[in-house]
Amino acid sequence: MVDLPPSSESVAHLTARFESELAQAKSARDAQSLRDRFLGRKNSVVASWMQLLATAAPDQKRNIGRYANDLKQAIEARWAQYTAAARSDAAPKDALDVTLPGRVPLLGHRHPLTVVRDRMEEIFTRMGFAIVEGPEVEDEWHCFDALNMPSEHPARDMQDTLYLARPLPGSGGPTDLRTVLRTHTSSIQIRYMQAHEPPIRIVAPGRVYRRDNLDLTHTPMFSQMEGLVVGEGISLADLKGTLLAWARELFGERSRLRFRPSFFPYTEPSAEVDVSCWSCDGAGCQMCKKSGWLEILGCGMVHPAVFEAVGYDAEKYTGFAWGIGIERVAILRYQVEDIRLFYENDLRFLEQFPY
Ligand code: DAH
Repeated sequence: MVDLPPSSESVAHLTARFESELAQAKSARDAQSLRDRFLGRKNSVVASWMQLLATAAPDQKRNIGRYANDLKQAIEARWAQYTAAARSDAAPKDALDVTLPGRVPLLGHRHPLTVVRDRMEEIFTRMGFAIVEGPEVEDEWHCFDALNMPSEHPARDMQDTLYLARPLPGSGGPTDLRTVLRTHTSSIQIRYMQAHEPPIRIVAPGRVYRRDNLDLTHTPMFSQMEGLVVGEGISLADLKGTLLAWARELFGERSRLRFRPSFFPYTEPSAEVDVSCWSCDGAGCQMCKKSGWLEILGCGMVHPAVFEAVGYDAEKYTGFAWGIGIERVAILRYQVEDIRLFYENDLRFLEQFPY
């Protein structure tokens, strides 16, 4: 083994010197000439070692060769770092080009069902209605009994109603009451009347639950908006006037309503209401299946048995009530063919309602 010439500094030392001189370089030219002094093909530090290597005695070649190579690699590596950094200084990757147009941030918007609910709330609020809510987990009494639906009523069948195993905490009713997921928002009428005296003018939106399988027109959860007006001298004419005013606001000035006799245990008389088709104005089209009418809600004059259940004087007060399916209104208004689309959270669907 032969030592290197005594003048040779360690690779680390030389590299450090290259580095500190490079740091002081004031221009690209300075840096380039520094590089040439260390790495240039002629007269550079590395070149003179290569020259020495060429003329070295065979037993010295190995040591000198290794040293010259290590030095060359170390300095080249440092130079490569330096040039890479210089390049990224010139145009850093995350450079901001202030002349580019801005990116429009992705703005969310209300769900189509929320749009419909808000719009209906707004209309009824302007007509003097208060907006109230009630629990989705209910007891049978509020959901059925108090609404004049005795235990043998078919809606209470296990096929239609979702029952919960646990009693409702603090419901205050008879202990044998079963707990249900409310099947309609009509239960809110009862809760509100128990807590307030007439006059009453409320709308109550919310989710309701039924044992339905998913298909184009059914989901086990959907939403309704209940309405209730109670006072002295409230008549069927008030019911018709209120709903007509609502329909004209929501579906257009030309809307007409058609009341068809129907049955609900909690109203007498009861009616199903159709609104004239706003697509053909009653002439008959695809949307209204050529009938000119779209079925939109159920309503009626509050049954005296309901007033008795909440302790109102049924001789003194009269009132009307209705229930509207919010999905139903949205389906008709937006011509949506499949109710499930409202719950799938697919942006391709939801973004068609940019409100
Ligand atoms: N509860 C009924 C339903 O779920 C809708 C309804 C009909 C509500 C008549 C009412 C009413 O308040 O008077 O289909």
